[in-house]
Amino acid sequence: MDQGISLPTRHQNLLAWVERIAQLTEADSVYWCNGSAKEYDALCQLLVDNGTFRRLSDVKRPGSFLALSDPADVARVEGRTFICSTRQDDSGPTNNWREPGEMRETLTGLFAGAMRGRTMYVVPFSMGPIGSDIARIGVQLTDSPYVAVSMRIMTRMGAAALAQLGHDGAYIPCLHSVGMPLSDGVEDVSWPCNPGNVYVVHFPETREIWSFGSGYGGNALLGKKCLALRIASVMARDEGWLAEHMLILKLTSPTGEVKYVAGAFPSACGKTNLAMLIPTLPGWKVETIGDDIAWMKFGDDGRLRAINPEAGFFGVAPGTSDKTNPNALAAVGRNSIFTNCALTDDGDVWWEGMAKTPPEGLTDWRGQGWTQDSGRPAAHPNARFTTPAAQCPSVAQEWEDPAGVPIDAFLFGGRRSTVAPLVFEARNWEEGVFLAAQMSSETTAAATGAIGELRFDPMAMLPFCGYHMGDYFAHWLRIGRRDGAHPPKIFFVNWFRKGDDGQFLWPGFGENARVLAWIFARCGGRGMAEETPVGYVPVIGEDGIEIGGLDASADDMARLLAIDPAEWSATLDQVRTHFTRFGDKLPPEFNRLMEDFEARLAG
Ligand code: GTP
Ligand code: SPV
Ligand code: MN
Repeated sequence: MDQGISLPTRHQNLLAWVERIAQLTEADSVYWCNGSAKEYDALCQLLVDNGTFRRLSDVKRPGSFLALSDPADVARVEGRTFICSTRQDDSGPTNNWREPGEMRETLTGLFAGAMRGRTMYVVPFSMGPIGSDIARIGVQLTDSPYVAVSMRIMTRMGAAALAQLGHDGAYIPCLHSVGMPLSDGVEDVSWPCNPGNVYVVHFPETREIWSFGSGYGGNALLGKKCLALRIASVMARDEGWLAEHMLILKLTSPTGEVKYVAGAFPSACGKTNLAMLIPTLPGWKVETIGDDIAWMKFGDDGRLRAINPEAGFFGVAPGTSDKTNPNALAAVGRNSIFTNCALTDDGDVWWEGMAKTPPEGLTDWRGQGWTQDSGRPAAHPNARFTTPAAQCPSVAQEWEDPAGVPIDAFLFGGRRSTVAPLVFEARNWEEGVFLAAQMSSETTAAATGAIGELRFDPMAMLPFCGYHMGDYFAHWLRIGRRDGAHPPKIFFVNWFRKGDDGQFLWPGFGENARVLAWIFARCGGRGMAEETPVGYVPVIGEDGIEIGGLDASADDMARLLAIDPAEWSATLDQVRTHFTRFGDKLPPEFNRLMEDFEARLAG
């Protein structure tokens, strides 16, 4: 697919960088992606020929492919993710740090010759609608055609992004290699990677990304977590806006009134599902603007306006069914890429939770025959679909509005078996920020490592904040204090509280609309609540949380909404230890907020 000598841009700086990296990596050839459908089809065919993709049934799943990764390359690798600011103090206690010069040397060594025998794809992309003044351009150089086609779904990729750059526009350079050169007779494999040598590296000051050794998800699709969160969070700090790990949804009430809600939940804790929810409450409607990342800037009216910088959904497959998330299921009906799902004998995909009983004749994500007696899941728990947002039936008509949508409420939610109630509202911005900074969640399969361990995950940004989180908390406080700001109201939710039997107390999914309806009411100055030491908790009933037709007992509801001051007090020692990590960068306000909180809990 070599294009010969005619180059698609006269951007000298970009051309020089591409040339320099082609030489360093000793790529066989350089291919500039234009983003056309023809190019996408050709790259997908190449991936089929390479054995990376299997074409799915034209009847069951038209235009779709399944990729099975190397079993050692299945999720984000937080332990190998680095923020290389000049001063260690700027990356903070929650990030891995290396001195930038030293890291550059390491990376230059790793990238030298890394693309031998491979094509280097030049992937220009826009995060955000092209031309939006909130949007940013990146250019990813990658030796993975899987990454190139995934970027076409996940971003506005190709000629239009390149044109937007003009002759001298600013772009974020994103360099990626799977780290498996084909030198000296090395045979290619279906999922090349170098799992023993992964580096996902950010240089926040020069706004550069270098990623080596992994081809999976957030390690490799560099527009997503690396650019749109880690690098963008630094730009947002410097420029007075927010880059957050948040879904964005449009909520319409039975009377046709609209509010926009943005919600931060850690990885695999329900953003995609909430963004596409079909309410069980009659007359309510949820539409999708984004499912993972929100970029928000102040409008002239002092309200935060959010865009979804992405163009597709890279969603968790397991658990997605026509009961839990019919919109996602419809979206992935065609033109989608599936990774680490199981394969049916008629050329379709399957995963745990898609239906009650798995079909006969499954091949699991490792390519082996699978039955219910195999004693292991057929799909990897972090199996994902990659699908264009425009294909989602619930996508809001304004999802690509370059001006963004005005946010009325922020939601923060973790995966908590205990302590955290179904929902409460912070009493004010400061207290909301203080509580979001101490949010915690049980870990999931979205990152490598132990699953189900409780960890602090402030604002669901622990793995994604590109600078010192103490400064990040201060930035959040500052946002609410900005002259003329009308910041959103702050709410906390938890769909994952468990009863004594170890089962979830709350049915979740479509029923979460009951919680959204109360939040909607609160944003309009309505909605009944009781004040507790942590904030406002809804009453049960028509004026609070509507429970008519709900499959949960009155007892369960009481448990779900219960706030036990003693339980909360018992967490404070850990919270203090957590805050101590941020040293003198912890906002001084937090000390006063902590004293007040402690006093309220003590009654
Ligand atoms: P990332 O893409 O990793 O950022 O994840 P996410 O926050 O978008 O999570 P997602 O919506 O994909 O949900 C992850 C898992 O949680 C899936 O297996 C869902 O089925 C499950 N889940 C989502 N919402 C709910 C809920 O309301 N209740 C319960 N019990 N499970 C849920
Ligand atoms: C997450 O882990 O929060 C994801 C998936 O959304 S990844 O793109 O791999 O980061
Ligand atoms: Mn995510």
